[in-house]
Amino acid sequence: MATKEELRLIRERADMAGLLSRYLTLKRSGKNYTAICPFHPDKRPSLVIDPERKLFHCFGCGEGGDIFKFLMKIERLSFQEAVERLAQETGVELARPGRAARLLARLYELNERAAAHFEWNLQGEAGAAARAYLRERGIAPETAKAFRLGYALPGWDGLLRRLARTEEEAGLLAQLGLLVRRERGGYFDRFRDRLIFPLCDPQGRVIGFAGRVLREREEEQEPKYLNIPNTPLFTKGATVYALQLARQGNPKEFILVEGYMDAITLHQAGFTNAVATMGTALTPSQAQLLRRYVERVVLAYDRDVAGEAATLRGMRALRNAGLEVQVALLPSGEDPDSLVRNGGREAFRAVLEGALPFHKFYIAHLVGQAGPEPERDPLKVEQLLAEAGSFIAGISSRPLRHELIRGLAEGFGLSEEEVELEMARRAQQWPRREEMPEETGLREPRDRDHERIPWGPEEHLLYFLLQGDLSLEEAKRELTVQDFPRYGRIISVLFSRGLEEGQIEPEELLAELEEPDQRVVTGLLLSPVEFTDRAKAAQDALRALKLARLERELKELKRRLAEAEDRGEREAAERLLQEQRERQKALRLIRRQGLLGMG
Ligand code: UTP
Ligand code: MN
Repeated sequence: MATKEELRLIRERADMAGLLSRYLTLKRSGKNYTAICPFHPDKRPSLVIDPERKLFHCFGCGEGGDIFKFLMKIERLSFQEAVERLAQETGVELARPGRAARLLARLYELNERAAAHFEWNLQGEAGAAARAYLRERGIAPETAKAFRLGYALPGWDGLLRRLARTEEEAGLLAQLGLLVRRERGGYFDRFRDRLIFPLCDPQGRVIGFAGRVLREREEEQEPKYLNIPNTPLFTKGATVYALQLARQGNPKEFILVEGYMDAITLHQAGFTNAVATMGTALTPSQAQLLRRYVERVVLAYDRDVAGEAATLRGMRALRNAGLEVQVALLPSGEDPDSLVRNGGREAFRAVLEGALPFHKFYIAHLVGQAGPEPERDPLKVEQLLAEAGSFIAGISSRPLRHELIRGLAEGFGLSEEEVELEMARRAQQWPRREEMPEETGLREPRDRDHERIPWGPEEHLLYFLLQGDLSLEEAKRELTVQDFPRYGRIISVLFSRGLEEGQIEPEELLAELEEPDQRVVTGLLLSPVEFTDRAKAAQDALRALKLARLERELKELKRRLAEAEDRGEREAAERLLQEQRERQKALRLIRRQGLLGMG
């Protein structure tokens, strides 16, 4: 990893306009440039480039970031790769962490030798049973070769004797998860008499292994699949099986399945864009990884697994990574592997064609759980909506959230307001867009296409903070992270880092954020907005947020008051009433200040 200082130097020296003009035709627009956005089908130039701050933002699709981000997106590089390229171009010498880099290289090399060792076993005499097993499962030798399948010998030291030439190498192989250290010293093979699946990074380097028993031996209590633990090269939650093959040929979408064998069988049947999770629910970092290569993911999961909470969270992670998600449901009792073998590729194709967009699937799933209409239990509906509330709150796309609420309302035969109310009752964190109080006098930005960023008080305040019209100290005095339900992460970075160091540069802020927060920041920084009086507008935004909070609190107090009265709790009601009065007073005060134009 490059150091902060190295990153700063690269940014300073990089020629933003020069770099972008290799890919785009830039047009001057004041101190900025505009261009046709390469990240979505763009008719007019929606991409704005600020060559000074070295940021870009597309007001059409919302993509945005710094030079590194641009290179990552357009060349499909990892952050590390983008840094290395720009370091070279700008002549910044990245300090090579000598020892660490050499050690890493040896680990890769040992993994490579282990993969070759297992492959060799499979081809040799000892591999006869494993080859027969593959034949039985319909895996052709060429397929096995493409996936580099192998076989671990039945003894305790097949790999140990073959690969560990020194004590030090044995130690490294143990670090790689291939050997296990004995308590009383020495090592033994982790994988014995198993079919071996090498696990690769997107570049095809072997980073880990999994092994499957050749015949189900349930009585022996052996796991069917054995995975290596996390190692310096392998992180289970950040790896996607078969990605190194599936990404070839630049598919528009991936088919996501659960099992190694499912992915392999699908590739063999011509679905060469299949990838598999590692037997766990999908993590956000796997979702981000997939997003580097495609725009859409079709999940091909069995019926039971698809509705599990962990799987649903995985789907949400995919959506939040900016991927379109479809869910294809397999006939019950089948996995993709068995379906292709029993019904051929046509059967699987039919399942893909029946895939539902994520929101439709989720709604059908939830409504289905409530049971058929006449004897539907209202309590069950209430509970399902509460669950849905916290689930939906974790979805970053507003249109999608709204779509889900609309669908649930329709599915449960309720109004959208009722659904929202039911959700809000349990899920306090539900990010609710407060309407702009009219008297604040804020101008809507003149931007042609700003629908991606809904400009409410939160956005205005963030905008003024980022542009320096409002000091962080002042904002911190008056507001808390809770006042920004949608931008909690951005605000907390601004408040903590920014205040610690007096100021935070946009690129430092961006480095601490993930999508979709990054695009919010670049969008606000590059928005062509005009205010008649910026200082006043900043104060107005501050006041609007304080008002919004007071209104929120009042609503909650009112609800609790009604409850207390219903239950006849007089003392509590008195106390709540008092609190209500205080809030109302504060509210009136702030409103009056607004009218008198006092800051
Ligand atoms: P399944 O049990 O569904 O197996 O596990 P499968 O993929 O259909 O395997 P075959 O067809 O019997 O060979 C799905 C995935 O869960 C992980 C593996 O990644 C597997 O591919 N898994 C399963 C484990 O890690 N350990 C296990 O013991 C079982
Ligand atoms: Mn299977």
